[in-house]
Amino acid sequence: MKIVIIGGSGLIGSKVVARLAEHGHDAIAASPKSGVNTLTGEGLAEVLAGAQVVVDVSNSPSFEDKAALDFFTTSTGNLLAAEKTAGVGHHVALSVVATERLPESGYLRAKLAQEQLIKQSGMPYSIVHATQFFEFVRSIADAATKGDTVRLSHALIQPIAADAVAGAVARTAVGEPINGTIELAGPEQFGLDELIRKGLSFRGDPRAVVADPGARYFGALLGERTLLPGADALILGPRFEDWLVQTTPQT
Ligand SMILES: NC(=O)c1ccc[n+]([C@@H]2O[C@H](COP(=O)([O-])OP(=O)(O)OC[C@H]3O[C@@H](n4cnc5c(N)ncnc54)[C@H](OP(=O)(O)O)[C@@H]3O)[C@@H](O)[C@H]2O)c1
Repeated sequence: MKIVIIGGSGLIGSKVVARLAEHGHDAIAASPKSGVNTLTGEGLAEVLAGAQVVVDVSNSPSFEDKAALDFFTTSTGNLLAAEKTAGVGHHVALSVVATERLPESGYLRAKLAQEQLIKQSGMPYSIVHATQFFEFVRSIADAATKGDTVRLSHALIQPIAADAVAGAVARTAVGEPINGTIELAGPEQFGLDELIRKGLSFRGDPRAVVADPGARYFGALLGERTLLPGADALILGPRFEDWLVQTTPQT
């Protein structure tokens, strides 16, 4: 199958392209770096010609509320319109567990708006909701840092490796559209503060992580279970500590 991966140069996108190519598909990485821009429409019609499936794993260059909303609504609108013109038969998009439960977060409001456009488009689709990637631990810490201290809620989180997400997205792309949402999560739950403390200390980061029930997560106050997936989520390894060891550069 010809499968176009929008955001194919990114963390998830590059892994999805590799998985699909290994299985003999014509997997095309598309992003501004390769002359395809979903915000302006540049290169879209050309890359979608003859494609059966489009996987959207692009991300907004800015997480600021308005910038993220503009990115996900404009790019998704352009992409869905171009897919209809090209006769694409399946739109797959990666989003985040709990988009519908965290309206205080501008980024998650933008992801929810992206999902609504897909659902209303009439295109056959599959939405994949993943929990936070292990690779995102550093960004969570950076966003919650003041001075040398990271303040985070003790709400539960069930993170997952990007590799596992990419595998599931690739499998979804070659399957039938589900016209619904599947959820993915890793095998373990942590307190958010505990996860970030483990990740930072393993990498030798000296910042202190302090549990603070009033600390906001990208603008949102978290309930104990807000970030957790539902009971039907697909659980995919590895465990966090095994991943930390596996991804430590050998000296
Ligand atoms: N981080 C998490 O924990 C988490 C959890 C669940 C779901 N997600 C979702 O996973 C998705 C992928 O995230 P990621 O971390 O893999 O992203 P990433 O590494 O930041 O990659 C972003 C990709 O988007 C492309 N892009 C940017 N602007 C574009 C445009 N105007 N047109 C087309 N492509 C554009 C970039 O292309 P260039 O390289 O050419 O600039 C790059 O390929 C996101 O939608 C995110 O919401 C993330």
